[in-house]
Formats: sequence, C-alpha cells, structure tokens
Amino acid sequence: PDKGLKGYYRKYFPIGVAVNTAALSGPEAELIVKEFNSVTPENDMKMGPIHPQENEYNWKNADAIVAFAQQHHIKIRGHNLLWHAQAPAWMFKDSTGKQVSKEVLLKRLKDHITAVVTHFKGKIYAWDVVNEAIDDKPDLYLRNTLWYQICGEDFIAKAFEYAHEADPDAQLFYNDYNSEVPSKRDKICKLIRSLKDAGVPVTGIGLQGHWKLNEPSVGQITEAIDKYAALGLKLQITELDITVRTAPSYKTANQTPPDSTYTESMAAQQAERYKAVFEIFRKYKKVITGVTFWNVSDKHSWLDYRGGGIAGGAAASQATSRKVTKAYPLLFDENL
Ligand code: G3I
Repeated sequence: PDKGLKGYYRKYFPIGVAVNTAALSGPEAELIVKEFNSVTPENDMKMGPIHPQENEYNWKNADAIVAFAQQHHIKIRGHNLLWHAQAPAWMFKDSTGKQVSKEVLLKRLKDHITAVVTHFKGKIYAWDVVNEAIDDKPDLYLRNTLWYQICGEDFIAKAFEYAHEADPDAQLFYNDYNSEVPSKRDKICKLIRSLKDAGVPVTGIGLQGHWKLNEPSVGQITEAIDKYAALGLKLQITELDITVRTAPSYKTANQTPPDSTYTESMAAQQAERYKAVFEIFRKYKKVITGVTFWNVSDKHSWLDYRGGGIAGGAAASQATSRKVTKAYPLLFDENL
C-alpha cells in the first residue's frame, strides 16, 4: 500500500500539489512521488503560457508535467481554461489593436478550450474551467474583466460547454478564493445555481483555500461546505496554503522581517490549523473529492512575492525590487 500522506488519505481523497517544471527533478520530485497522488500545474496550462499567440501553442512544460505524473501514476488536475490574469493580450484585440467583438472572443475562447482540452484528453481528470469570475466586493456580482466587458455573463456557461464538448469525461470545476466569506459564497452559489438551471455541465466547485491561521474560521469553512454541498456538486480544495507569518505592511515597506521571526510557536500553530482543517475535510469525505496544496515546500510559494498574503496587486508588481518576504505557508520547510 501507498506510504506517505497519500497513503494515510487513501480512504478519503487524493492529496495533490501544485508543481512547475523545476520541481520535476531532484529532491522535490522524490517528495512529490512519495507523498502526493495528484498534481496541478501551477502556471503552465494557463492561457498566456500555453497559448502565447493566436497560432502558437506552447505545450512543452505542460507536457513534461503530464509525462512525469503519468510515469508515477499520479492524477492530474488541469488549471485553468479561463482567467482574467495570465490571459494573453492578443486574445482581446484584432490586428489593428481594436477590441474584438463578443462573437470573435467566444470563437477564440472555443478554439483555445477545444485545443487544450483535446490535447490532454484522457490524461486530465478534472479541469478548473473558470477561475475567479466573481467580484470580492459585496455589492458587485461578476468581476469587471475584459471577458465580462466584451461578452457579458455568457462567457462562463460557454467555457463549460466548450470544455465538455472536448472531453465529456472530464470533471469541470468553477474555482475561486475567499469562497468561505459569506457574501462571496452566496454569489458563487447564485452563479452555480444559474448554471445548473440552464443545464450547463458544471460538476464541482474548487475552494482555493489560501488561508491564514485564524481566517476563515472553522465555522465559516463548514458553513460554506454545507451550502455548496446542498447544490449537489462535488467540492475540491484546490490551492491550500496557510500563511503563518504576514509582513508588517507593504505600505511601510523595506521592512521585510528577518527570517528569524519565523518561530517554533508559529510552526506549532500552523500544525494545529492544518490538523483542524483536515478534520473538517475528513468529516466531509463524501463531498470533498480532492485536496491540493499550492506548492511543495516553503522554498517556493506565490505568497513570498506578495508580502506574506496581505499585499495586493500594486505591491505584487513592486515585489521584485524588494527583498522576498517569507510566509512559510506549506507543509514542508525549505529543507523539505
Ligand atoms: O515565467 C515568467 C518569466 O519568464 C519572467 O521573467 C518572470 C518575471 O516576472 O515572470 C515569470 O512568470 C511569473 C509566473 O508566476 C511563473 O513564475 C509571473 O510573473 C507571476 O505573476 C506568476 O505568478 C503566479 C500567479 O498565479 C499569477 O497570478 C504564481 O506562480 C501562481 O502560484 C499563482 O497561482 C494562482 C492560481 O493560479 C489561481 N489562484 C490564486 C493563485 C495565487 O495567486
């Protein structure tokens, strides 16, 4: 029988991890093979990286991850088919630089989804089809992206339909963060209900799970799972990490805390927190069909480029000029 985390969780759900090609060789690769039985490419299947120009697909990195996973009998989640971030600029413009019409954009979306899903058909068991389409502000419903500006609400249903046509066997997820915050949770439920009422082939909801030590509360997580489960869909925790140390503030920047401020006590609190959330996941094993960590170890986390999880977009874009801030959000430390 399997050892490692995946072995402990064999009766519950696959234990996944986000990977990039750098992780496919060396000590991280050994750890992935030992502990995990699902992988999600962290960036390499997103629209920009995989489809940089209208007539150019870049399969190399994604294929390498798929080959690694297949070689080690690891399941693969595809991430993602439509997002406002990491979308290539050409998608929204014609040859003169003018914004394209709804018809043209949906045609391009269909071409993209059909090509990508067909390329990996039979190898990817679940796709994050639409990522983060809902706005965080309580009084706004859908996020005001180019997709929304050009297509209205339709792009969401269309994305699911195109994906289903290309691979009827793949499970299709709507994926979002802050999905436990009641105002956003209710909007996600509204969206899913409207998709289901219209017969759109959505099979599950991805709760990203970019969490902190005390946020969201166990009560909020449980309540959200109950509400989503009541819609009759499967749930997956798709991008789990638990920030232990937040930077003081990016506004008072250049005050990156020294790494010595990561203490034993923080590590212990994080262990308790991971224990608490996995107790919830096990309790809901009938609805939760996968839990994926957003990276292998504290060596590499997206949070480190954003100030330990508290900084927003502006800070993220400045972060390269600044010392990296460590959030220590993952199961394994920098020495794996
Ligand atoms: O590959 C280029 C490289 O060629 C270039 O020189 C360098 C300079 O900035 O950028 C590199 O691309 C970066 C890419 O990660 C690969 O490292 C992008 O700038 C950077 O923005 C990108 O960040 C990713 C982020 O999504 C994009 O918003 C993170 O790695 C990835 O972990 C993160 O993942 C997202 C999920 O997809 C959706 N949910 C939230 C989650 C965290 O933001």
